[in-house]
Amino acid sequence: MNSEVSGKTKFAGVIGWPVSHSLSPAIHNYWFEQYGIDAVYVPFPTRPEALSTAIPALLETGCIGTNLTLPHKELVLPMLADVDPIARAIGAVNTVSFADGAAKGYNTDAYGFWKNIEERAPKVQKKIAFVVGAGGAARAVVAALDQAGFEAIFVMNRTRDKVNSLYSVSRKVRPVEWFPAAEELEVADLVVNTSSLGMVTQPPLELALGKLPPHAVVADIVYTPLETPLQAAARRLGLTTVDGLGMLLYQAQKAFEIWFGILPEVSADLRMKVLEAKA
Ligand code: ATR
Repeated sequence: MNSEVSGKTKFAGVIGWPVSHSLSPAIHNYWFEQYGIDAVYVPFPTRPEALSTAIPALLETGCIGTNLTLPHKELVLPMLADVDPIARAIGAVNTVSFADGAAKGYNTDAYGFWKNIEERAPKVQKKIAFVVGAGGAARAVVAALDQAGFEAIFVMNRTRDKVNSLYSVSRKVRPVEWFPAAEELEVADLVVNTSSLGMVTQPPLELALGKLPPHAVVADIVYTPLETPLQAAARRLGLTTVDGLGMLLYQAQKAFEIWFGILPEVSADLRMKVLEAKA
């Protein structure tokens, strides 16, 4: 963070309701310091009904851009002058740029998810994916898997009908009945939990991980706790695991690039600072 705010200091932030839990200020202010950028990144606690007022107000006051978190990611779409094709396909915007006097929406979650997988599990095979959950996060994950070249994306969701809504994101989606020992696990190269199961206060996601081939990678987008019970079980079986914090860091990396034209480094030091902010 820039410790000497002046009349020239730029600003960006995260719009959410609630937003006090957000780790995005810790991430972006760290990079401002690292790259010597005269800017600050702050939370914008904004009620859903006030979003349509907040977006034009931020544009008018010279804000560089914002991230959006719950419950705003879908709500913001009609309030933007332009939306990039990936965000349009996912149906959600997590990053807005106010460059050139207009609000443009992007989705950097798909980028963040895949960049983290490539970083943490570079040998992952890209044929068959097994996704749990079919909510907003699943849409970004499915878009990333499709883009990465997966041939089939099995999706298991408690509410089976919701899987159909993912066809607009990828034609490679194949619904799977809710069953922890689903036979599709036997052929999965990559398992991704996008559901809230495993999050603190939630029950764990029970999956028969023993059915997976030994090269399978098990990823969770939940990062509270950093190691979910699913991750711990996968680790005990000797499988490669990928935690959810990296997705958060890499979606921020892409947003930062959109705003400042610099792809900042996701370093071990940044990861440590963010873990400290989370504690
Ligand atoms: P997000 O934007 O984080 O994806 P969401 O859109 O509310 O949040 O989606 C939450 C996902 O977690 C959904 O797939 C949800 O399943 P349903 O579609 O059946 O609601 C899943 N989920 C949440 N709690 C669950 C539980 N107790 N058992 C199984 N799935 C659960």
